[in-house]
Amino acid sequence: MKFALMTAVLLSSIGLVNVTHAASVDKGKALVEKANCASCHGAGLNAPIMPVYPKLAGQYPDYLYYALKAYKVGNSNAQYGRNNAIMGSQVQAYSDADLQDISAYIASLPGNFVIKK
Ligand code: HEC
Repeated sequence: MKFALMTAVLLSSIGLVNVTHAASVDKGKALVEKANCASCHGAGLNAPIMPVYPKLAGQYPDYLYYALKAYKVGNSNAQYGRNNAIMGSQVQAYSDADLQDISAYIASLPGNFVIKK
Protein backbone atom coordinates (compact mmCIF):
# COMPACT_ATOMS: atom_id res chain seq x y z
CA MET A 1 0.00 0.00 0.00
CA LYS A 2 2.71 2.41 0.98
CA PHE A 3 4.70 1.37 -2.08
CA ALA A 4 1.75 2.03 -4.39
CA LEU A 5 1.27 5.44 -2.84
CA MET A 6 4.95 6.29 -3.24
CA THR A 7 4.87 5.14 -6.87
CA ALA A 8 1.85 7.32 -7.58
CA VAL A 9 3.55 10.33 -6.00
CA LEU A 10 6.74 9.69 -7.97
CA LEU A 11 4.91 9.24 -11.26
CA SER A 12 2.92 12.40 -10.84
CA SER A 13 6.05 14.36 -10.05
CA ILE A 14 7.64 13.00 -13.24
CA GLY A 15 4.48 14.00 -15.08
CA LEU A 16 4.84 17.51 -13.75
CA VAL A 17 8.36 17.72 -15.10
CA ASN A 18 7.07 16.81 -18.55
CA VAL A 19 4.38 19.47 -18.45
CA THR A 20 6.93 22.21 -17.88
CA HIS A 21 8.22 23.33 -21.26
CA ALA A 22 11.84 24.37 -21.59
CA ALA A 23 11.63 27.06 -24.25
CA SER A 24 13.87 26.52 -27.27
CA VAL A 25 15.44 29.55 -28.94
CA ASP A 26 16.27 27.44 -32.02
CA LYS A 27 12.69 26.23 -32.48
CA GLY A 28 11.45 29.78 -31.95
CA LYS A 29 13.84 31.09 -34.59
CA ALA A 30 12.57 28.54 -37.10
CA LEU A 31 8.93 29.46 -36.39
CA VAL A 32 9.58 33.21 -36.64
CA GLU A 33 11.47 32.81 -39.93
CA LYS A 34 8.82 30.52 -41.40
CA ALA A 35 6.05 32.99 -40.53
CA ASN A 36 8.16 35.92 -41.76
CA CYS A 37 7.33 38.08 -38.74
CA ALA A 38 10.07 40.40 -40.02
CA SER A 39 7.82 41.44 -42.93
CA CYS A 40 6.19 43.85 -40.45
CA HIS A 41 8.46 43.93 -37.40
CA GLY A 42 11.52 44.50 -39.62
CA ALA A 43 15.07 43.22 -39.74
CA GLY A 44 16.03 41.49 -36.51
CA LEU A 45 12.46 42.27 -35.35
CA ASN A 46 13.96 45.60 -34.37
CA ALA A 47 13.18 47.86 -37.34
CA PRO A 48 9.40 47.89 -37.94
CA ILE A 49 8.30 48.91 -41.42
CA MET A 50 5.81 51.39 -39.92
CA PRO A 51 5.78 53.13 -36.53
CA VAL A 52 2.49 51.43 -35.55
CA TYR A 53 4.28 48.06 -35.65
CA PRO A 54 6.14 47.55 -32.37
CA LYS A 55 9.81 46.73 -31.95
CA LEU A 56 10.15 43.31 -30.39
CA ALA A 57 13.84 42.40 -30.19
CA GLY A 58 15.15 42.06 -26.66
CA GLN A 59 11.77 42.36 -24.94
CA TYR A 60 11.28 40.18 -21.86
CA PRO A 61 10.18 36.65 -22.84
CA ASP A 62 7.41 36.59 -20.21
CA TYR A 63 5.91 39.77 -21.62
CA LEU A 64 6.15 38.49 -25.21
CA TYR A 65 4.49 35.21 -24.28
CA TYR A 66 1.72 37.02 -22.42
CA ALA A 67 1.15 39.33 -25.41
CA LEU A 68 1.09 36.50 -27.96
CA LYS A 69 -1.22 34.43 -25.81
CA ALA A 70 -3.51 37.44 -25.38
CA TYR A 71 -3.76 37.86 -29.18
CA LYS A 72 -4.61 34.18 -29.47
CA VAL A 73 -7.33 34.44 -26.82
CA GLY A 74 -8.65 37.60 -28.47
CA ASN A 75 -12.17 38.70 -27.65
CA SER A 76 -13.11 35.44 -25.95
CA ASN A 77 -11.74 36.80 -22.67
CA ALA A 78 -12.27 40.52 -22.21
CA GLN A 79 -10.14 40.59 -19.04
CA TYR A 80 -7.13 39.11 -20.74
CA GLY A 81 -7.43 39.02 -24.53
CA ARG A 82 -5.97 41.50 -27.00
CA ASN A 83 -8.28 42.18 -29.87
CA ASN A 84 -6.09 42.92 -32.88
CA ALA A 85 -7.04 41.53 -36.28
CA ILE A 86 -3.49 41.45 -37.64
CA MET A 87 -1.76 39.76 -34.72
CA GLY A 88 -4.78 37.62 -33.88
CA SER A 89 -4.47 35.93 -37.25
CA GLN A 90 -0.71 35.52 -36.85
CA VAL A 91 -0.82 33.43 -33.68
CA GLN A 92 -3.85 31.13 -34.02
CA ALA A 93 -1.88 28.13 -35.31
CA TYR A 94 0.63 28.04 -32.45
CA SER A 95 0.56 25.90 -29.31
CA ASP A 96 1.55 27.34 -25.94
CA ALA A 97 4.93 25.64 -26.31
CA ASP A 98 5.41 27.27 -29.74
CA LEU A 99 4.59 30.69 -28.28
CA GLN A 100 7.14 30.13 -25.50
CA ASP A 101 9.79 29.13 -28.07
CA ILE A 102 8.99 32.21 -30.17
CA SER A 103 9.18 34.42 -27.07
CA ALA A 104 12.53 32.95 -26.03
CA TYR A 105 13.95 33.58 -29.50
CA ILE A 106 12.72 37.18 -29.74
CA ALA A 107 14.03 37.92 -26.23
CA SER A 108 17.46 36.63 -27.28
CA LEU A 109 17.74 39.14 -30.14
CA PRO A 110 19.74 42.32 -29.61
CA GLY A 111 17.33 45.25 -29.33
CA ASN A 112 17.63 48.96 -28.70
CA PHE A 113 14.72 49.61 -26.36
CA VAL A 114 16.97 51.28 -23.82
CA ILE A 115 18.06 54.82 -24.55
CA LYS A 116 21.17 55.61 -22.58
CA LYS A 117 21.24 59.23 -21.48
C1 HEC B 1 1.13 42.04 -41.06
C2 HEC B 1 2.04 42.66 -40.09
C3 HEC B 1 2.51 41.80 -38.92
C4 HEC B 1 3.06 40.54 -38.97
C5 HEC B 1 3.35 39.66 -40.18
C6 HEC B 1 3.37 40.20 -37.59
N1 HEC B 1 3.01 41.21 -36.75
FE1 HEC B 1 3.26 41.24 -34.72
N2 HEC B 1 2.31 43.04 -34.62
C7 HEC B 1 1.79 43.73 -35.70
C8 HEC B 1 1.04 44.88 -35.22
C9 HEC B 1 0.30 45.89 -36.07
C10 HEC B 1 1.13 44.86 -33.81
C11 HEC B 1 0.46 45.82 -32.80
C12 HEC B 1 -0.93 45.29 -32.54
C13 HEC B 1 -1.66 45.99 -31.40
O1 HEC B 1 -1.92 47.17 -31.52
O2 HEC B 1 -1.95 45.30 -30.41
C14 HEC B 1 1.94 43.70 -33.46
C15 HEC B 1 2.26 43.33 -32.17
C16 HEC B 1 3.05 42.24 -31.83
C17 HEC B 1 3.44 41.89 -30.48
C18 HEC B 1 3.10 42.67 -29.20
C19 HEC B 1 4.24 43.64 -28.90
C20 HEC B 1 4.04 44.43 -27.65
O3 HEC B 1 4.96 45.20 -27.31
O4 HEC B 1 3.02 44.29 -26.96
C21 HEC B 1 4.18 40.77 -30.56
C22 HEC B 1 4.84 40.03 -29.42
C23 HEC B 1 4.24 40.38 -31.97
N3 HEC B 1 3.55 41.31 -32.71
C24 HEC B 1 4.89 39.26 -32.45
C25 HEC B 1 4.81 38.82 -33.77
C26 HEC B 1 5.29 37.55 -34.22
C27 HEC B 1 6.00 36.52 -33.33
C28 HEC B 1 5.01 37.45 -35.55
C29 HEC B 1 5.24 36.29 -36.48
C30 HEC B 1 4.63 35.02 -36.07
C31 HEC B 1 4.35 38.69 -35.92
N4 HEC B 1 4.24 39.49 -34.82
C32 HEC B 1 3.93 38.99 -37.21
C33 HEC B 1 1.97 43.40 -37.03
C34 HEC B 1 2.46 42.20 -37.52
